[in-house]
Amino acid sequence: MKYLEALNWRYAVKRMNGQPVPEEKLANILEAIRLAPSSLGLQPYDVIVVKDPAERQYLVPAINQPQVTEGSVLLVFAAWTKVQQQQIDDYIQNVADTRQLPLAALAGFKSNIENLVKAKDSQSLFSWTARQAYIGLGYATAAAAFEQVDATPMEGFSTEKLNQLLGLDAKGLSAVAIVTLGYRNAETDRLAKAPKVRRPATNFFHRPETKQSSSANDKQS
Ligand SMILES: Cc1cc2nc3c(=O)[nH]c(=O)nc-3n(C[C@H](O)[C@H](O)[C@H](O)COP(=O)(O)O)c2cc1C
Repeated sequence: MKYLEALNWRYAVKRMNGQPVPEEKLANILEAIRLAPSSLGLQPYDVIVVKDPAERQYLVPAINQPQVTEGSVLLVFAAWTKVQQQQIDDYIQNVADTRQLPLAALAGFKSNIENLVKAKDSQSLFSWTARQAYIGLGYATAAAAFEQVDATPMEGFSTEKLNQLLGLDAKGLSAVAIVTLGYRNAETDRLAKAPKVRRPATNFFHRPETKQSSSANDKQS
């Protein structure tokens, strides 16, 4: 399936049929999330993978949407509420190990990260880490489509309850969005055959004319 076909095939499924997502497909979707870009490459969010049906049922008081139990996997995108020095150190060590660089060669990069983090108050820091998590969310939904697995991105849950049920506060995390993975129930899902609604490309994309191209047009007319 070509990627635009896959993206047209996908939709935010409201009712799922309980069919399990094969391990290999789940592994590919998770790997796509891991490969998502992030500001500075820091990946300042974690993804909690909840497969066990009883554990998903346990989360229903926080996420009262049927996909949580009708799907087969629940991904919780949890952004870092703070960026600890240890997390920066670990990242720099990872860059050094992966690219076989001495730590000294990364000193400037490291202090850029430290300065950027220090310059943000706690709200803008969390807003920044959350934005990185949303890039992962986008990758998850696209990768699921390529794998022909249905995925529903969701913000409709109680952050406070979900954080509490998963013990996220103590880990310096807060849930920002979730994705349920599974398979559509075409019989019960009112949106299964609904055409996709999107703004027309003509007013979504803007292509400002450069001075050069407008003078070329003048000459032609
Ligand atoms: C960040 C985000 C939060 C969303 N929250 C929910 C949700 O809580 N429940 C739900 O059923 N759909 C949710 N959606 C799905 C959107 O309603 C859906 O993506 C949008 O209407 C476009 O339709 P499509 O994805 O089916 O093409 C969410 C989508 C995004 C990207």
